[in-house]
Amino acid sequence: MSIRGSTLVGGGTGFIGKHLISLLKSKGVETLAISRKPGSNTITWDDISKNGLPSGTTSVVNVAGENVLDFTKRWTDSFKSNVYKSRVDTTKLLSKAISKSSSPPNAFIVISGVGIYPPSDTAKYDENSKVAGFDFLSKLCHDWESATHLDDNKSCRVVSIRSGVVLGRNGGMIKNLYVPFFLGLGGPIGSGKQYLPWIHIDDLTSLISFCIDKNVNGIVNGVAPDSTNNLQFSNAFAKSLSRPAFFPAPEFVFNIIYGKERAIMITQGQRVIPKRALEHGFQFKYPDIQSACDSFVK
Ligand SMILES: NC(=O)c1ccc[n+]([C@@H]2O[C@H](COP(=O)([O-])OP(=O)(O)OC[C@H]3O[C@@H](n4cnc5c(N)ncnc54)[C@H](OP(=O)(O)O)[C@@H]3O)[C@@H](O)[C@H]2O)c1
Repeated sequence: MSIRGSTLVGGGTGFIGKHLISLLKSKGVETLAISRKPGSNTITWDDISKNGLPSGTTSVVNVAGENVLDFTKRWTDSFKSNVYKSRVDTTKLLSKAISKSSSPPNAFIVISGVGIYPPSDTAKYDENSKVAGFDFLSKLCHDWESATHLDDNKSCRVVSIRSGVVLGRNGGMIKNLYVPFFLGLGGPIGSGKQYLPWIHIDDLTSLISFCIDKNVNGIVNGVAPDSTNNLQFSNAFAKSLSRPAFFPAPEFVFNIIYGKERAIMITQGQRVIPKRALEHGFQFKYPDIQSACDSFVK
């Protein structure tokens, strides 16, 4: 297979990063992950800081970030600072390296989150919706996206993908929910009426690859086209597993485990539309929640 470029993937060792690298490799793209630890086919953030981008890099993606929903870590100022720096500082480091590069890549793709939009049961958000920081997570998304700013380097396209919850068998939310739902102990969170903007891992990685290849710039919402609430997700996942979804999880439990500011990611939601991805002609393999959930139990 002929080589079709070389992509540097910050956070390439994680759930999204590994899937992305596997997809890019299958398309004949060379890949190199950036991690905190050295390893095979991996360089460190220090290497980037000291030596800049590896020569021949044609695209850069950043999907690094300390796990916000790690319930073993309390929501302290120090943990919040790690959450922030692992996203904003790594993105700034890559922006600086791209800005300084004498042969800059064609595309710089960064993941951000739908938490930039205020939770609402009625509003409908697309990429043109006005956003302003209103809490820690929304301000984080703002600074994350602003960190992509490149100095005097107009030739590199920059895309921030505002991702919904990423659904995949081997990571994120589905990995955590699989056992309780398999045992028939699953159910909605709180009233279940809150929107759950989501995207299948295969669609997110395809969307990143699409943004690398096509003439896409700016903000792109990374969510499936159907708007799903938490109750609809629970019912679909339970149906795929041929189990009931009788057991609602009360909101206060998540407020206690995660702290209220962080629990918002689970107990509240927003309706987000992938307007720009669809306008650019991106085709979702899993546009509806039932087909996505069915794929996890195959
Ligand atoms: N999964 C989702 O549902 C979802 C939804 C929206 C947005 N996102 C965003 O997508 C990114 C990746 O998510 P994921 O699910 O793939 O997470 P993940 O599996 O936890 O992987 C995150 C990666 O980030 C790196 N990392 C962790 N802590 C770090 C730190 N303190 N400093 C620098 N790097 C650190 C890790 O690499 P090393 O250990 O090798 O350094 C790891 O490979 C995150 O920024 C997340 O906020 C995820």
